[in-house]
Amino acid sequence: MAMQTIEELFEHELKDIYSAEHALLGALEQMANESSDRDIRKAFTQHRKETVNQIKRLDRVFKTLGQKPSAETCPGIEGLIKEKKAFVRARPSAELLEYYNIGAAQKTERYEITAYENLIDMADKLGMDDAVEWLEQNLQEEEAALNRLKTIASEFDVTDEGSDENVTTAAEETTTSRR
Ligand SMILES: [Fe+2]
Ligand SMILES: [Fe+2]
Repeated sequence: MAMQTIEELFEHELKDIYSAEHALLGALEQMANESSDRDIRKAFTQHRKETVNQIKRLDRVFKTLGQKPSAETCPGIEGLIKEKKAFVRARPSAELLEYYNIGAAQKTERYEITAYENLIDMADKLGMDDAVEWLEQNLQEEEAALNRLKTIASEFDVTDEGSDENVTTAAEETTTSRR
């Protein structure tokens, strides 16, 4: 059926971000596990908790539409997750992977920020005041997360990897820690 109304577009975009948030639960958990620095791990863990609440707010938005929450695969976020998997296959050092994750997470935050800005604009046009408020709360958390990640990235101390012959790759480190 052809999509014709802004209500239909809103619903489509809502399902897209619903899928993205679910995919990010797993990605944030993985990035927390790949962090050796306590503060970085905490940043990922904290944002994962926020993501759980964001999904609950989206559930409420679906409810105001009289709909059961459902997801439509979000190729945007899936693509970023694929990129990360490809990077891991290049056997980066644990430290470089940690730094990469901070940058990759910022890309996902920017995607989410734009998605929420668009949803808020549509909800506003549709006079969905409660939905605007819940989506605003999600947007604020994404913006705060992006700012935290930016600070973490600028403070991240990357040593000269190339000169160190004893660099452990992320994959080797995982194997070692399992022993
Ligand atoms: Fe989110
Ligand atoms: Fe986020």
